[in-house]
Amino acid sequence: MERMLIKDVSKNVGKEVTFCGWLNNKRSSGKVHFLEIRDGTGYIQSVYADADTKILDTIGLVAHESSVSMKGIVNEHPRKPGTYELQLTGIEIISQAIDFPISKKEHGPEFLLANRHLWLRSKKQWAIMRIRNKVIYSSMDFFHKENFIKIDAPIITPVACEGTTTLFDIDYFDLGKGYLSQSGQLYIEAAIFAHNRVYDFGPVFRAEKSNTRKHLIEFWMLDAEMAYCDHEQNMSMQEKFMKHVIKDVLESCKEELEILQRDTTILEKIIHSSFERMTHADVVKFLRSKGSAITDQDDLGAQDETILGNEFNKPIFIEKWPKQIKAFYMKRDPNNPNVVLGDDLIVPEGYGEIFGGSQREDNYDVLLDIMKEEKLSLDDFGWYLDLRKYGSVPHSGFGMGLERMVSWLSGTQHIRETIPFPRLLNRIRP
Ligand code: 4AD
Ligand code: MG
Repeated sequence: MERMLIKDVSKNVGKEVTFCGWLNNKRSSGKVHFLEIRDGTGYIQSVYADADTKILDTIGLVAHESSVSMKGIVNEHPRKPGTYELQLTGIEIISQAIDFPISKKEHGPEFLLANRHLWLRSKKQWAIMRIRNKVIYSSMDFFHKENFIKIDAPIITPVACEGTTTLFDIDYFDLGKGYLSQSGQLYIEAAIFAHNRVYDFGPVFRAEKSNTRKHLIEFWMLDAEMAYCDHEQNMSMQEKFMKHVIKDVLESCKEELEILQRDTTILEKIIHSSFERMTHADVVKFLRSKGSAITDQDDLGAQDETILGNEFNKPIFIEKWPKQIKAFYMKRDPNNPNVVLGDDLIVPEGYGEIFGGSQREDNYDVLLDIMKEEKLSLDDFGWYLDLRKYGSVPHSGFGMGLERMVSWLSGTQHIRETIPFPRLLNRIRP
């Protein structure tokens, strides 16, 4: 008999089918036995109340997380329409799992992280990874529809995109040091001159000694870059993009969000309202009025981001940052050379900054001065300066931290659960 996928169960009501998967749960109530299996596409419960000794023996023997094949007749649940059950007619153990280490009881995070290769099978982890998958697909769909071309940036680079304090270095043969990319931005800037609108999506690395629930050492970033695009248009594109992804996830991850018990009220409202825009100077004033010790030359702390998020209950662009605390490539505001046309997009519910972007400095002489000021080597950055020499245009872009986005949408408190195998300050295994 042909193997069916659990996701297609509703098309097979009344038929006898076979599902192949893993045993998720087993219980008995008198002579009735319930076995829940999952096959990666969904979960289904099967019921057995007959007396075939071979089947009963197998039911008795099969352990949690064993691989099994189950044959049965599909029934719709009499009181819960849309829920299906399998009336078991046959069961075979493909491979017995002996003492699977993760059980229904509470385990500590260190134990679960050490067993990440097995933890991935748990229902919540399954749901989070599926939301991650949806965010990736929805993002690529958005950029495709908006006429962006995907350009893959290198991972090994001779330069720092986001400053030298969080760089991982490697020995690069006879050529000295190479570095693991912190963002593909500088490279995709080159590609707008060929394709106008481009994006990249790949792993990036930050040798950051931050041990918080928002920081990973290795994470996935999506950078987007647009020619003939100013700071205002850049923020508008970010808003449109974020709303597109939220809408897609709400529409097609209902089961996952329910498993995670995600209250989606705020997310639903966000798709239909405009994001807030505030300058860094105004944000500082506001936060100080709420008791924060932030000064006008500071980045926001986690607590500041939470206060701000709670005040508005929707995403907020913080724009026009003091130039000292932002990257060298950000364009100075023509109305105030002390601030740059950069933006951080902060989301509510305590999840903080999810996108960071800016208009880029497009003037050759200004950028050259900045690079001299910041002691950036012309050997390494000459090519980046060249882009301002041959047909320079106003241009802007932004980067989304995939795992921060997934944390927020799925309501996952700690970012380590939103990537299959997290790399943390104190963890490189499995
Ligand atoms: O704000 P960041 O550092 O911006 C850039 O790298 C720009 N080059 C992007 C661009 O303009 N193309 O990083 C972008 C996003 C942040 O908003 C945050 O969501 C995420 O990347 N991020 C991290 N996520 C997890 N762990 C970390 N250590 C992160 N650092 C930044
Ligand atoms: Mg940032």
